[in-house]
Amino acid sequence: MAVTKSLSIFLFIAISCVAVAQAANFNITNNCTYTVWAAAVPGGGSRLNPGESWNISVTNGTTGGRIWGRTNCTFDNAGRGKCLTGDCDGVLECNKTGTPPNTLVEFALNQYNNLDFYDISLVDGFNIPLQVSPTYNCSSVKCAADIIGECPTQLQVPGGCNNPCTVFNTTQYCCSTGAAGCGPTDYSKFFKERCPDAFSYPMDDASSMFTCMGGSDYRLVFCP
Ligand SMILES: *[C@@H]1O[C@H](CO)[C@@H](O)[C@H](O)[C@H]1NC(C)=O
Ligand SMILES: *[C@@H]1O[C@H](CO)[C@@H](O)[C@H](O)[C@H]1NC(C)=O
Ligand SMILES: *[C@@H]1O[C@H](CO)[C@@H](O)[C@H](O)[C@H]1NC(C)=O
Ligand SMILES: *[C@@H]1O[C@H](CO)[C@@H](O)[C@H](O)[C@H]1NC(C)=O
Ligand SMILES: *[C@@H]1O[C@H](CO)[C@@H](O)[C@H](O)[C@H]1NC(C)=O
Ligand SMILES: *[C@@H]1O[C@H](CO)[C@@H](O)[C@H](O)[C@H]1NC(C)=O
Ligand SMILES: *[C@@H]1O[C@H](CO)[C@@H](O)[C@H](O)[C@H]1NC(C)=O
Ligand SMILES: *[C@@H]1O[C@H](CO)[C@@H](O)[C@H](O)[C@H]1NC(C)=O
Repeated sequence: MAVTKSLSIFLFIAISCVAVAQAANFNITNNCTYTVWAAAVPGGGSRLNPGESWNISVTNGTTGGRIWGRTNCTFDNAGRGKCLTGDCDGVLECNKTGTPPNTLVEFALNQYNNLDFYDISLVDGFNIPLQVSPTYNCSSVKCAADIIGECPTQLQVPGGCNNPCTVFNTTQYCCSTGAAGCGPTDYSKFFKERCPDAFSYPMDDASSMFTCMGGSDYRLVFCP
């Protein structure tokens, strides 16, 4: 009896620890005045009316995670349709990257020294202002400037401000030759001046990458 009881207490503690250690929670809230169709890989997607939120649970050790918002979408009951910005192959539940322009949150969990890495990237352009904040005491990153309103004419597209690589497809803008042949451009500076904490081109400096102790949860807000 005593043995069984200690065993069940042990198992309870063990299972609780596993449950706590295995995943990070991302709480994604739409604070915009318009509907946003949130997208996450891994995670899928969810329609968020103004004020609504969606939680996703991301497994410990996940790399290459991406979260973004889609605008002006129409989906049928089977979750098939399209979006003006951020569309992922016409499905509500994304399992691949979105079409630019889309403001992106990127992350990798429990990496070197069990650190999480996270950033906002404008390398795929900008469609919705956003903010990502760890629940631990680590930096909150925000990009909420009026990038669409001030977008250079050649980068303007309905619903967003494109990245120059998508528009011009040159080695200079796409950094196709790697770090050595790739620096800031007038277009990347347009993004960097407005959102200094976000990546503005693929080889942007270390000021755009943030770290936090693994085990933190995250809060993401559209239109902070
Ligand atoms: C994540 O998993 C690694 C082992 O893969 C472990 O060392 C680490 O403590 C875990 N982190 C959290 C926060 O659960
Ligand atoms: C959603 O996330 C928030 C903050 O990260 C957390 O407080 C809340 O418990 C989560 N809700 C669910 C249903 O997991
Ligand atoms: C996300 O966080 C907000 C603020 O803490 C909370 O009101 C909301 O219920 C959370 N969302 C979910 C799905 O738990
Ligand atoms: C997107 O939808 C909003 C309404 O939610 C509308 O005001 C806006 O004109 C639409 N944008 C485009 C480019 O169709
Ligand atoms: C992605 O989603 C589509 C539509 O839901 C599905 O047909 C496809 O098999 C999925 N692909 C992967 C790799 O999960
Ligand atoms: C958060 O971190 C900062 C900088 O490391 C520190 O000054 C501050 O006291 C911390 N706040 C809390 C509540 O731990
Ligand atoms: C971009 O240019 C490369 C050649 O420099 C070409 O292979 C590729 O198909 C182009 N991509 C697009 C989307 O046009
Ligand atoms: C939501 O937007 C309002 C302005 O419209 C702002 O004052 C508020 O701080 C935002 N909330 C969050 C959680 O970012």
